[in-house]
Amino acid sequence: MISQETIDAIFQATHIEDVIEDYVHLTKRGVNLKGLCPFHDEKTPSFTVSPARNIYKCFGCGKGGNAINFLMEHEGLSYPEVLRHLAAKYNIPIQEDQMPEEYEAEKKERDSLYLINEYARDFYRNQLFHTDLGKSIGLSYFKERGLLRKTMDAFELGFATTSRDELTKSAVQAGYKIDFLRQLGLTTEHDRDFFFNRVMFPIHNISGKVVAFAGRHLTTDKKSPKYINSKESEIYHKSKVLYGMHLAKQAIRKEDFCLLVEGYTDVLSLHQSGIENVVASSGTSLTVDQVKLVKRYTRQIKILYDGDAAGVKAALRGIDLVLEQDLNVELVLLPEGEDPDSYIKKVGVTAFREYLQNESTDFILFKTNLILKEAGNDPVKKAGLIKDIIESLSHIPDPIKRSVYTRQCAELLKVDESILVAETNKLLSKNLRDARINQLREGREDHELQQQILEKERQKAVSEKWSEEKTLTDEFQDRDIVRILILYGDRSIEIEQEKMSISQYILSEIQEALSFFDNSLYAKVVTEYGIALANGNQLHTDYFIRHQDQAISQLAIEICSSPYELSENWQKMWDIRLETQPMPEENEVQDAIQALYRFLLKKYQKMSEENLKQIKTYQNDGDEESLLKHLQVQGMLVEQRNKIAAKLNTVIL
Ligand code: CTP
Ligand code: MN
Repeated sequence: MISQETIDAIFQATHIEDVIEDYVHLTKRGVNLKGLCPFHDEKTPSFTVSPARNIYKCFGCGKGGNAINFLMEHEGLSYPEVLRHLAAKYNIPIQEDQMPEEYEAEKKERDSLYLINEYARDFYRNQLFHTDLGKSIGLSYFKERGLLRKTMDAFELGFATTSRDELTKSAVQAGYKIDFLRQLGLTTEHDRDFFFNRVMFPIHNISGKVVAFAGRHLTTDKKSPKYINSKESEIYHKSKVLYGMHLAKQAIRKEDFCLLVEGYTDVLSLHQSGIENVVASSGTSLTVDQVKLVKRYTRQIKILYDGDAAGVKAALRGIDLVLEQDLNVELVLLPEGEDPDSYIKKVGVTAFREYLQNESTDFILFKTNLILKEAGNDPVKKAGLIKDIIESLSHIPDPIKRSVYTRQCAELLKVDESILVAETNKLLSKNLRDARINQLREGREDHELQQQILEKERQKAVSEKWSEEKTLTDEFQDRDIVRILILYGDRSIEIEQEKMSISQYILSEIQEALSFFDNSLYAKVVTEYGIALANGNQLHTDYFIRHQDQAISQLAIEICSSPYELSENWQKMWDIRLETQPMPEENEVQDAIQALYRFLLKKYQKMSEENLKQIKTYQNDGDEESLLKHLQVQGMLVEQRNKIAAKLNTVIL
């Protein structure tokens, strides 16, 4: 595990603008930098980087974060992978905390497996380009298929010679353990090479490490399979890999859709023609994990199938899975006898792109049409097929989308829409039950759930931010207190000639109202600050931005970036030259006191409303004693409320 000191050093050294400039062209705008958002398509820049805060924020799509989040999201890297990446960028030596022995051993083993695959990859490449056999068989085959050297290099293609043990021998001689070679499936149990006389396609994980190989034979021998693959290993889980993803991910994000094809050669060929957002499922039907992989980069998936019967069948398999993940699925069926590789060669890239555009059919409608054709006039067949459609419909999580499709399908199938709706609903509730049971059973992937909640909250925050209604709800006052704490809780304030920190002031004033924090996230921040103060510590803005709890870190980032948005809107609406006015940040004492008073005002109002309700019930019940007590309380509350209202007025004036 990377030590905390190293993590701190990495955070210290990291400048968000350096990191982002590797991916986005930024230009200076005032104290910030702006560029075109890499997470959504836009023509005018709303992607803002704040070097002062070390955060970024897009006011178009709402995405925001620090350098770490950015790399995780943009590159699809894990947290430790990002730390390593940054450590390398800033020349920071990585100290690792001692891990339990079994972890160490496991990690060493994984590292060794990657190293061996790297060794094999280089071995096969060398064979392809530098041996007579490689050149005359392998290289000439690839060339014949129209592949350029740059494509062979990008995909690290290679060649396994006719020798039955050359790789194994040379790897062992180079010091690699035969056990590991066997584990990876490169060496058979009889210590022979598994791959021989084949052209070799390394299979990479998303960060570009080789996890497995596929080898294609070059004979027309029907007895041996066209492709053979490495077996599954510690580092290769077939169902979690999509061929070509490490080279496609950026383009997928940029184009905001992923092209899914069947074959390795299809990926190579399209990539070479400049269509880079392409991956292959490698002959197997799509798995949930593969769909989730795509979902990291886009929600649109376009599945390109070979124009043969098998292609169509494959198209219909596994797609409910994609629907379930709330991805938009479109299908493109190629003309009969073509696969993407042959077709793009035939018509060229422009016509190919046009074909994709024109021939895309939404999955459900595709399926419905196909089924109709198949069933003809056979009512029994048709009934079975309708059931099939209902099944697919019930996998669409978005109710609006679902109802649109239901209507279209009903029309196509010439059945009553209400019947489709009713049947779909039945299945829906069954699916939901099953999902709940599964969730309980698996203990559920917390992380993913958290991401979903975060995403929802983020969307909500973006759409509601600073909207009129929001200022009227309690939540706004609560958030405002949290905003003050995060932004300048550690700064000082003087209250009745006593110097203290803003956080001390606020927390002491709101203590009684703490239980009124409805939003658990805000409550968490306030409580955490309270504990820190009790231990004599102050918490800084950066502390929250770097918080391990992603929800808190996101909140801090939202809060830090809000003033920028506010200023832009104001400028647009009123054409006020805001530069001449102090931003709230430069006016933190006023800002804090106002927020506090608004908060208290709201809380007292709420308390007095609840108290009034009780008074009513006591009146009705004739409970004199309680009534009296609560009337007194009411008096106190109103008095407090008025006091605060008066203070607030003077502050505002
Ligand atoms: N496949 C496989 N094993 C086979 C046949 C196919 O794993 N015996 C997988 C491969 O991932 C292959 C994909 O299914 O890429 C599609 O098969 P196919 O269209 O036959 O292969 P292509 O990649 O198109 O190969 P080529 O163009 O060289 O025939
Ligand atoms: Mn093919």
